[in-house]
This record gives sequence, structure tokens and C-alpha cells, in this order.
Amino acid sequence: MASTPIQFVVNGRALSLDVGSHHTLLDTLRDQIGLTGTKECCANGECGACTVLLNGRAVTSCLVLAAEADGADVLTIEGLATGGQLDRLQQAFIDKGAVQCGFCIPGMVMAARYLLMTTPHPTDDEIKAGLEGNLCRCGGYSRIVEAVRAASDSRTSTPGPQEAARAATESRKNAPWLQEAARDSRKNAPRPQEAAREDK
Ligand code: FES
Ligand code: FES
Repeated sequence: MASTPIQFVVNGRALSLDVGSHHTLLDTLRDQIGLTGTKECCANGECGACTVLLNGRAVTSCLVLAAEADGADVLTIEGLATGGQLDRLQQAFIDKGAVQCGFCIPGMVMAARYLLMTTPHPTDDEIKAGLEGNLCRCGGYSRIVEAVRAASDSRTSTPGPQEAARAATESRKNAPWLQEAARDSRKNAPRPQEAAREDK
């Protein structure tokens, strides 16, 4: 079966893998890297259980081909805690009793993380809109909204867009092959004058 070599950063760790050309990012995270915190449920983009951040944006990883993550920066639920300390959002979900069976929670937390990066102090309506792609079969939505509100009220550990961009740059520094790849693609790119000449 055809496979594609990819290099990417997952939770700050640079990885090189061969991925099946038909494999999704979700397959690779769970089956090749062993990060099973990201859940598979519908596998067609409907439930949000597989939400991760790809280059700082929330995506449903069941709809992203693993090969498309080549050169990317991926953050999963396992990458939130630092030094054994839960992230503020994770702690708020526990404190507010927002976790029932827990199956939807990793996706909810990652979607909420993206929401707080883009809207640091959301209203309840904005929280509901931000999480509308994430389904909870246990139906504990009001506590989930409460948890996100609580995390946004004491938002010191959830990075804003600039902090997230800084973190992505830092993790790229730990992955020299990303810089080499960027250098190589610049080398191979035609100069503007050459491109103009070829256009004539
Ligand atoms: S498993 Fe990806 S959206 Fe449901
Ligand atoms: S807590 Fe059970 S599906 Fe959401």
C-alpha cells in the first residue's frame, strides 16, 4: 500500500513517519503515535470528538489526511498539561462537573481552547456557537458552557493568538528539518524576474 513520508511537530515533539496515503491525521495520532486522547466517533466530521489544533486552528482530524499534516504543528489534548499540571480549561471542566462519560471531552476542550485563543472573553452565546460542532451524547452542555466561562474568567494559562504563534515558532525551532525544508523550497522557487520572464 502506498505510503508518504511526513515530518511534523506533535505537542512540541518533532516526528518523522511514513503514513498511508489514505490514512487520516486521526489514524496517525491514535494508531501510529499512540495519542488515544483524541477520540474517533462518527469519522465523518459531524461530532467533533476528534478535534485537534493544526497550525493553531481547530480541525476535525478525521477529515484531514495525515499527509496533509506534513510540516505542520499539531496540538492534541495530551499536549495541554505542563509539568503534571492540568491546563486551566481541563481543570475548569473538572471543577464544574462538566465531564460525564468523558468521551466528547477531549474534542470539547480543544474546540474551547481555539475559541479562547480567538475570543478571550466569550459570551455564553459565543461559547455555544464556538462549540456547536461538538456533540455530547450525555447532554451535559450547560456545565460545559459553565466550564469554558470559568476558564475564560481566569485566563492566564490559555494562550492568545500571539502566544500560540510564539509557541509554534518555538516548537519549529526544535525541528530543524522544518527550517531546512523552508530553505529548500525557497531555493527552488523561481525569482520574481525569472517568473516574469517565463510568463512572457
Ligand atoms: S470523529 Fe471526527 S468529527 Fe466525529
Ligand atoms: S460527557 Fe459523555 S458524550 Fe459528552
